[in-house]
Amino acid sequence: MHENPKRINIMEANTIYKGLEGVTVSETKVGFVDGEAGRLVYRGYNIEDLTEHSSYEEVAYLLINGHLPNAKEYQDFTQVLRKSSELSKEVVDLIWTHSESHPTSLLRTAVSLLGANDRRADHALDKDQKDMGMELVGKIPAIVSSIRRAKDGGKYVSPSPELSMAGNMLYQSTGKKPDKTSERIMDVCLMLHADHGSNASTFSSLVTISTLSDIYSALTSAIGTLKGPLHGGANEMALKLIMKIGKPENVEKVIGDMLQKKEKIMGFGHRVYKVYDPRAKILKGFAREVTQKNGKELLFQTAQKVEDTMIMKLGSKGIFPNVDFYSGMVYDSLGFHPDIFTAIFAASRASGWVARSLEYVSDNKLFRPRSSYIGERGPKEYIPIGKRN
Ligand SMILES: CC(C)(COP(=O)(O)OP(=O)(O)OC[C@H]1O[C@@H](n2cnc3c(N)ncnc32)[C@H](O)[C@@H]1OP(=O)(O)O)[C@@H](O)C(=O)NCCC(=O)NCCS
Repeated sequence: MHENPKRINIMEANTIYKGLEGVTVSETKVGFVDGEAGRLVYRGYNIEDLTEHSSYEEVAYLLINGHLPNAKEYQDFTQVLRKSSELSKEVVDLIWTHSESHPTSLLRTAVSLLGANDRRADHALDKDQKDMGMELVGKIPAIVSSIRRAKDGGKYVSPSPELSMAGNMLYQSTGKKPDKTSERIMDVCLMLHADHGSNASTFSSLVTISTLSDIYSALTSAIGTLKGPLHGGANEMALKLIMKIGKPENVEKVIGDMLQKKEKIMGFGHRVYKVYDPRAKILKGFAREVTQKNGKELLFQTAQKVEDTMIMKLGSKGIFPNVDFYSGMVYDSLGFHPDIFTAIFAASRASGWVARSLEYVSDNKLFRPRSSYIGERGPKEYIPIGKRN
């Protein structure tokens, strides 16, 4: 039998890369994280430029299509998003009848339900995958907002044609039209979280799409993966810690005690960034602004003191604030409850998941890694159940 020489090498080497750390599994043109220089790039554009001049709608288009839209493309795309952000009766019923469920679980189930109800998903062609993906970019934020609305005991709110996606996220979750500052801050949060390298949820969307499954399934996998506290949950814990510390005077003792006990301070450190996370730098300015506006200055001052203390103690080891340190505070000031923070993350990351899934499947290779078997090789004698001890 003819053996593939590459395959023999892999078998002979038998090296285990736990968690696939350090393993490159694909090429991408979607986004780039430069951990040494502290740069985040979407399709060649610096995140600082995008958050200053652009909008989430443009960024989502850019990630999925590879270029910034012209006026006509922008209009067509925003129309798709707007239409998609009006939820069907089945999805609204699901959200309102399960409003006690965890928001991320409910979001995952809603996306799965959408897939089950979309006949295009049964035998998805390339064009269908892209259309369904773009619709999901519009639907997921509306689902997240409606989950918050249902939890607060309100009725479903239809999106407003006058508002941006960020504005509608706030409107559909509260029933009140947001002010310009809140809409802008939400927009920046969506842009900042849209894509970030080969993280666990993005990778799981690639594994699913690589079986030629549909994009709903890919995003359902991604949302399930994002739910874990090692991935999407650090901002909630960072906010809770800052709230528990309460005021700047308490910081040195609390942080000092935690570090002595070798506890991790949530919102600090990163596998890729060994300098200040560029997303945290941008969010910090907004956190200052929004906490001032909402009378929560003490929260910001306490966070600033935590940052100073951590950098003094661990900056030399490359430990700086990451995106999660300030994002929880921003969401809290915008009125979101901590248990929905991860679902908001998913609302933004949907565009990155779609962009990378479509890119991967266009030059597809089924994922099929190996495990090294370390159990008994036998053969052991089979003993019928009645004779076992
Ligand atoms: C993200 C994370 C897993 C990266 O871990 P890592 O790659 O092992 O980190 P490093 O190797 O750079 O750590 C260097 C040192 O700083 C310590 N350190 C790293 N992050 C720390 C944190 N948040 N709090 C306290 N100490 C930390 C490490 O324990 C290590 O200490 P040592 O030299 O005594 O062994 C880690 O920083 C962490 O758990 N952070 C908190 C969770 C979080 O905010 N996650 C969201 C990421 S976007």
